[in-house]
Amino acid sequence: MKKLNISSKIFVDGGDPKETREAKELLGFVHGQTTNPTLISQNPIVRERMERGEKFSKREAYHFYQEVVREIAKIISGPISVEVYADRDTKAQKMIEEAKEMVKWIPNACIKLPITKEGLKAANLAVKENIPLNMTLCFSQEQAAAVYAATKGAENPVFISPFVGRLDDRGENGMNLVENILRMYRNGDGHVNVLTASVRNLNHLLFALSLSCPLITVPFRVIKEWAEKDFILPDENFNYQPQNLKPIPYQEISLDKDWKSYNIYHQLTEIGIEKFVLDWQSMIKS
Ligand code: G3P
Repeated sequence: MKKLNISSKIFVDGGDPKETREAKELLGFVHGQTTNPTLISQNPIVRERMERGEKFSKREAYHFYQEVVREIAKIISGPISVEVYADRDTKAQKMIEEAKEMVKWIPNACIKLPITKEGLKAANLAVKENIPLNMTLCFSQEQAAAVYAATKGAENPVFISPFVGRLDDRGENGMNLVENILRMYRNGDGHVNVLTASVRNLNHLLFALSLSCPLITVPFRVIKEWAEKDFILPDENFNYQPQNLKPIPYQEISLDKDWKSYNIYHQLTEIGIEKFVLDWQSMIKS
């Protein structure tokens, strides 16, 4: 097996333990995993069940999610992100209650909360309870600054997930956001770690590696492609040149403001929340 000389930690982005197992066989390691409601709804067992026209009760759906996460925890010992249910109306208190349950599922659970007003409020409370966090659906530098400020003093490292592919989808250079957050966090105390997410292709992965992004979550199909290319690594001449994507400029944003004062609205966060809700609910009997 090829020894990979990289500083980034590689996570699997998925909801199927079989993929985690195969990724570990290919790489020789997997440092962590990220899941979300969409990925769980795409698990082959869920798909088969849905094709038979059998949906889950809400309780069964949570049980299934828990089983998947427990299965993954048998394969890897690193952080496994588990996402709370959050729709437009979910209050911080409800997210915290769910986070406290989910964190008991496995010893290495890391709770995903959305970067919304209520999600940040929940994050601010969660760090006081030592709940490991992955702040998800990040689409702007200002959101990343708010996460930093809201989780200051956290004893566990906090992860933040900029969703690269979804910015690319609408013609913006998502990898610029990763670069910008990494640069902004250089002025901080290091308690928030950037986790490049919504990776769609090998170029995203290679550029994130060249930036030494601390964490990168990668779908199995991209890990497979990487393996087929003999785990190619970016050299000093690596040049990330996305076609026709508008650059996202760096902004000077202070990390020291009151976390409630940042402008955290981003349309893609709202759309992302809606999609997670729809995918989760598609599994559940009405
Ligand atoms: O890690 C987040 C990821 O699962 C979202 O990916 O491809 O749905 O934007 P995508």
